[in-house]
Amino acid sequence: MNDVLLLPSLLSCDFSRLAEELAGCKAAGVQVVHVDVMDGHFVPNLTLGPLLVAAMRRATDLVLDVHLMMTQPLDYAQAFRDAGADAITVHAEALGPRGITEKLDQLRATGARTGLAFNPDTDVEMWVEAIAQVDQVMLMTVYPGFGGQAFIPAVRPRIRFLRGRFPELPIQVDGGIDRRTIPMVVEDGANRLVCGSAYFNDADPAGLRAWAESGQYV
Ligand code: DX5
Ligand code: ZN
Repeated sequence: MNDVLLLPSLLSCDFSRLAEELAGCKAAGVQVVHVDVMDGHFVPNLTLGPLLVAAMRRATDLVLDVHLMMTQPLDYAQAFRDAGADAITVHAEALGPRGITEKLDQLRATGARTGLAFNPDTDVEMWVEAIAQVDQVMLMTVYPGFGGQAFIPAVRPRIRFLRGRFPELPIQVDGGIDRRTIPMVVEDGANRLVCGSAYFNDADPAGLRAWAESGQYV
């Protein structure tokens, strides 16, 4: 069964027209939008906090998939959940291996769907038990911090590894996802495609979404 979804990353949208951008996603047939939270510490960039997630929540009924690129994500996860986040993904590198089961329990206790993200150079094989505990996993296909970077092909074997280990788990990829790389990552087993600059710069974003979600890339 093909269950590929394309998730526009709002990092590349026009924030002066946020409600319209969300309505555009809805009209394009999008089900889930991706929200990038950067703390200026875990990554060298700053974006947005719970206040803006709450504004998004008021503007749309789309699923809000919130990606916390933060050194202390658990200090803020409940605030993002209360603001309206449906899913919250935290970085394995931020949590660290010690006490990971309890930390992921704490994330789940917010009431959000839970996700664990991995930077391109993190060894996911060390984390399979933790991954088994969450609702979705995300492989960064760029070093996080900025939109519009080039896809890192060395992550592809990790997608295949995780799909082999977790046949049913939603596997997200994030960074450099576009018309060129979508066929590769879907072939590897990814089924949640976070797409920022390529989506918002496309002349036909609805067409891009439909094509990506078709799974047919001839
Ligand atoms: C990068 C963010 C991504 C970003 C992707 O740190 O996590 O979600 O918006 O942007 P593109 O698709 O332009 O690489
Ligand atoms: Zn992201």
